Amino acid sequence: MLAIIGGSGLTQLANLRITHRQVMRTPYGEPSGALTFGILGELEVIFLARHGYGHTIPPHEVNYRANLWALNDQGVKQVVSVASVGGIRADLVPGTIVLPNQIIDYTHGRGFTYFDGRDRPVTHIDFTHPYTESLRRKILDAAVCGGEICLDGGVYAATQGPRLETAAEIDRLERDGADMTGMTGMPEAALARELGLDYAAIGVVVNYAAGRGTSRDAINLEQVNLVAQPAMARVRHILECLVQQNGA
Ligand code: HPA
Repeated sequence: MLAIIGGSGLTQLANLRITHRQVMRTPYGEPSGALTFGILGELEVIFLARHGYGHTIPPHEVNYRANLWALNDQGVKQVVSVASVGGIRADLVPGTIVLPNQIIDYTHGRGFTYFDGRDRPVTHIDFTHPYTESLRRKILDAAVCGGEICLDGGVYAATQGPRLETAAEIDRLERDGADMTGMTGMPEAALARELGLDYAAIGVVVNYAAGRGTSRDAINLEQVNLVAQPAMARVRHILECLVQQNGA
């Protein structure tokens, strides 16, 4: 089964016919909210709002371990994460949809592993390619099929938040090789890998990163919402096509 984790701007899937909701408890505590089961196209999917359905959980307080654990517990095999990002690379202008293929992790102090040596033996997962390539391809195909433009590849810098970056921090991220920045990509991707789940992320560029483009002097947060809404509608369309293809 496929699960969709929605971020800012995607706290629900308008095109999902909800069948039921399930409150979950895990050894790591409670997920961000009840899992929402529903039918997208013809197939059952699970939706989870990463920041809670009322968008009350900041990025550094999301219980990533509980979220992935709960999905895995329900038989999920593939996770598509939707996350808003700030664009660093010149072509990642607001409104762009992009599928990152690499991650640099700048987060700290989050529950980032199931293998902490207490309940489970120390295990080192391979994370050379943090996103599952076959799932990335399916999403890219779904975008083509749905007539939506979706850029293939980019380095996602996972920052701690909840504040946005300084202009100098963005310069540093760029020197490190980052193309976009967001606050929730890690440890989510690594935890999915630890559980053996397929995982890919759809990045929605909602602003120029700090110091770039129209964010040269400041990031206009009202503008972010205006950009996010139509872009998330395009993401929903891609997800619908993905589910249709997956079931075909
Ligand atoms: N930085 C970090 N996270 C973000 C941004 C940003 O500019 N935009 C959306 N999420």
